[in-house]
Amino acid sequence: MSKNSPHVIVLGNEKGGSGKSTTAMHIAIALLDDGKEVGSIDLDSRQASLTRYIENRRTTAAGLSRPLPLPRHVLVTRSNVDSKLQAMSEEAAHLGSALGELADCEFIVIDTPGSDTILSRLGHGLADTLITPLNDSFLDLDVIGRIDDSDERGVRPSIYTEAVWERRKQRAACGQVPTDWLVLRNRLSPLDARNKREVERLIDRLSKQLEFRAVSGLSERVVYRELFPLGLTMFDIERDDLGVAWKSSHLAARQEVRDLVRSLKLRPRGTRKKTAVSAPAATRSDRQERLAGPFPAI
Ligand SMILES: Nc1ncnc2c1ncn2[C@@H]1O[C@H](COP(=O)(O)OP(=O)(O)OP(=O)(O)O)[C@@H](O)[C@H]1O
Ligand SMILES: [Mg+2]
Repeated sequence: MSKNSPHVIVLGNEKGGSGKSTTAMHIAIALLDDGKEVGSIDLDSRQASLTRYIENRRTTAAGLSRPLPLPRHVLVTRSNVDSKLQAMSEEAAHLGSALGELADCEFIVIDTPGSDTILSRLGHGLADTLITPLNDSFLDLDVIGRIDDSDERGVRPSIYTEAVWERRKQRAACGQVPTDWLVLRNRLSPLDARNKREVERLIDRLSKQLEFRAVSGLSERVVYRELFPLGLTMFDIERDDLGVAWKSSHLAARQEVRDLVRSLKLRPRGTRKKTAVSAPAATRSDRQERLAGPFPAI
């Protein structure tokens, strides 16, 4: 992608229910609230939760005299053909046409399904920023990797992590900007301090070895669930024409989403370094070199 292409933010995790669609919607609306031109793509046509969230917002907007900011949204459907090869080429074409429709956006937010599908793989390959939300539990952590002190490498990457590594390697091999991978702790509870500390410690270890940035995501809050039927988020809090009894806790939630977006360190269009396709090995960054190699021994 050129330096003028949209910055692509992908929400991915093969673990279902980790908060991908909720986080995708909130990031998209936060960027719109910041005056950015935002597109969104739903690669989970089975559940289509992001699409439903946006449709709900469109319905709410239709009854208002003032507009509600909406991302330009495309739902990419799966192919019905039996041949895997043909399905791949059809789905790649569907995704390509969605990207074409949104090519003039500054940011594209892509939601992926909680399973390994062709579209999910294609989506991961597009990520300038990949966000993997995790519930704050050891079970969810296992989907990223396992600390195994009996193994000299110290960490056993999961199948998902291996797949992310593979996508990053492919990007590096084409001279593209490496994917910035963030693991985001979602549904943080203020109550479970001991569990929180332990999960934090393990994530910190994994992050060094698997090369992701660990960031705090959203707290466990009812507001992240209750505004879905209206398609609203805390960024609509200034509006008194929506029939919502806004509370002070919504302000805290809005700040939390803003902090999350800040921690993504997104590079607006035009400020990214141009990278040559097939950059010669001598000019590649250390990181790209490492990504081009096998999974790192620890
Ligand atoms: N921070 C949060 N606080 C409270 N509820 C949340 C939070 N984040 C997500 N949820 C709720 O958790 C459930 C799963 O969230 P979501 O659908 O966003 O996950 P997902 O990863 O997209 O799931 P899937 O893999 O099935 O697509 C939903 O009921 C959602 O409303
Ligand atoms: Mg989802």
